Amino acid sequence: MADLYTTITKNPFGKAVTSQLGLPQPSRLRRGRLMPTGPVVLGAIKGASVAADALEVLGQAHEQALVDAPGSRTEDENGRAQPPAYPGKVGALIVDASSATEIADLEQVRALVRPALKALEPSARLIIVGADVAADQGVEHSAITQALEGITRSLGKEMRKGGTANLVRIQRGVTGAALASTLSFLLEGRSAYVSGQPIVVGASESVCEVVNRPLEGQIVVVTGAARGIGAGIAETLARDGASIVAVDIPAAGDALAKVTNNLGGTALQLDITGPEAGQRIAEHVASRFGQQAKIYGIVHNAGITRDKLLANTDEQRWGSVLDVNLAAQLRINDVLLTPGLPGGLTDGGRIVGVASTSGIAGNRGQTNYAASKAGVIGVVHSLSGELNDREITVNAVAPGFIETEMTGKIPAATREFARRFNSVQQGGLPVDVAEAIGYFLDPASQAVSGQVLRVCGQSQIGA
Ligand SMILES: NC(=O)c1ccc[n+]([C@@H]2O[C@H](COP(=O)([O-])OP(=O)(O)OC[C@H]3O[C@@H](n4cnc5c(N)ncnc54)[C@H](O)[C@@H]3O)[C@@H](O)[C@H]2O)c1
Repeated sequence: MADLYTTITKNPFGKAVTSQLGLPQPSRLRRGRLMPTGPVVLGAIKGASVAADALEVLGQAHEQALVDAPGSRTEDENGRAQPPAYPGKVGALIVDASSATEIADLEQVRALVRPALKALEPSARLIIVGADVAADQGVEHSAITQALEGITRSLGKEMRKGGTANLVRIQRGVTGAALASTLSFLLEGRSAYVSGQPIVVGASESVCEVVNRPLEGQIVVVTGAARGIGAGIAETLARDGASIVAVDIPAAGDALAKVTNNLGGTALQLDITGPEAGQRIAEHVASRFGQQAKIYGIVHNAGITRDKLLANTDEQRWGSVLDVNLAAQLRINDVLLTPGLPGGLTDGGRIVGVASTSGIAGNRGQTNYAASKAGVIGVVHSLSGELNDREITVNAVAPGFIETEMTGKIPAATREFARRFNSVQQGGLPVDVAEAIGYFLDPASQAVSGQVLRVCGQSQIGA
């Protein structure tokens, strides 16, 4: 769906009028596997080194961050103390606060962030790395963990020109190698529509290198792939090297064929609510790729809405949404996880769900949809622990307002509100959701499981 307002702000007359009226000026976001143009600068607190190690693993050069401290300030023409200034534009600032244990350490976060804020280039990145502290590690340390989230969420709202701020929480024993895929995702344009979010990285011994086509040779099943976000997922994962099995209902067969013809993937016309759906997917994979073939990843993207206030919601509207959006994926997972099943899910593989900010915050007229999407989050929490031994990671994305046919049906005024009411003042694109899913699927993200990542431009709804 076209965002007419953003198009208007991009011509000189429209820009002049909308600026005069104090209306939002959405920036063009840096997208794709693109690093910032300006330097990546790094500031570490109390000798923390894991972020520097991760940048070294990525082969990414960095500069030392400036620090705002009494001795480092200059004065402006009115004699007011100013923080030290960067000579040019900064592409990204990483603050490694993983060694912060006391409230006083938070002053160092302020001192590192302040000089950078006015020097950031458009679509710049601010990344804070903190420890993921268990409750038994002391009350002050635990408070710091949460305080860093407060700082990050606020900074996301202070960023300008498409910039984002995110927090990476590392568990005990996380190495630079385990952190690398998350830093790479957050620095690149792949995370254009992710802001104000925490991501937890666990310790993992079997971490692969971060490469450009991480899914080369891997079979990935994407449900609901005929259009919208699903088609975007299929396209982006194919760019990353995956062999796509694109699933959608028979009525969407033509659109599905178009998607797979463009990608060289295979199409499977299938209603995922059918009792044999899991078996049909496994048989398709075994017959197309061979009896030894295994699925590396499944993305449960197919979804429907049947919006009504609960007072007007009948059994059919309720049941159909819960069946497509939640129950079907449980049945499919059960079948594909059967050990030894030809065309089943491999150990070391990936399951990714598509939830929604409605599943986090609730939404008027969407009790059925919110129930199903909150249920997807419950699946992540339960299954990620259960499949740890098989090294299968389980994560979900929770999109906010994404420009698709589904959101094109929202009444105009509500649609415009949802589109602008976020930190980057625009709707997301299917590719933004797809990139976050690609990050979860990446073999280098082995240490990332049990996460629900909002892809919503830091929407104020459900914040
Ligand atoms: N668009 C958004 O803003 C937004 C926000 C949050 C979450 N989501 C979620 O993202 C996913 C994709 O959304 P979209 O906007 O691209 O929707 P869409 O309606 O454009 O596409 C959904 C696809 O799923 C397919 N599908 C529906 N029922 C199916 C079934 N029983 N079997 C197989 N395929 C089936 C449809 O045919 C369609 O191709 C959904 O799960 C949706 O709930 C979307």
